[in-house]
Amino acid sequence: MPHKFGDHAPWSRLMHEERQRMLPAAGVLELLAAAPGSTVVEVGAGIGYITLPLALAVGPAGTVIATDVADEALAHLKARVEAEGLGHVRLVKNEESRLPLDSGVADRALLVDVFHELEDPAALLADVHRVLRPGGSILVVDWDPGWTDAGPPHHERLTRAAAQELLEAAGFGGEPLAFAHPSHWALRGTRPRQR
Ligand SMILES: C[S@@+](CC[C@H](N)C(=O)[O-])C[C@H]1O[C@@H](n2cnc3c(N)ncnc32)[C@H](O)[C@@H]1O
Repeated sequence: MPHKFGDHAPWSRLMHEERQRMLPAAGVLELLAAAPGSTVVEVGAGIGYITLPLALAVGPAGTVIATDVADEALAHLKARVEAEGLGHVRLVKNEESRLPLDSGVADRALLVDVFHELEDPAALLADVHRVLRPGGSILVVDWDPGWTDAGPPHHERLTRAAAQELLEAAGFGGEPLAFAHPSHWALRGTRPRQR
């Protein structure tokens, strides 16, 4: 079973300067391309390294639904969101492979450094597919197994090709994207529009 971040590391590490260098939030948001006023579900939001800039990107007319399986992460995130007065960020605890959200509510879904922690990626992706509107897209950014300087155990990381296969099996069109730093890969999956 993969490790969960909060079981072996302090949450504050998610805001570390070195992480900001390897995983620039602006680079993630550029690939996500969430329009102002749109609804984004961020699965495994942690303490909000991406959530806070994402909330500014969608603006008060938009909504960020930030989920996590860890109560502790959600408690930290709640304090940060309240301190910044970001009333359009909704915090949601999810089960391992199930989001307690209505179908078709989101324009975008985002998973940053979460994919390698999933117990059943296929099951979670199926539920993200349900929660996205037709034509909506998911952005997955995760550690490259070839990057040896830092990060989670190598045997727990997935290659982008393996992640793309999982996305396509869940019904998404998969599109590899260039990422700002070689420590991470990025992949977009689009839920096909209905005819
Ligand atoms: C390495 S942290 C990354 C947090 C955040 N995405 C970021 O980039 O700062 C991984 C997060 O994923 C959460 N997580 C792990 N499995 C999850 C799942 N099945 N559903 C939702 N969150 C999950 C962990 O609790 C943790 O907060």
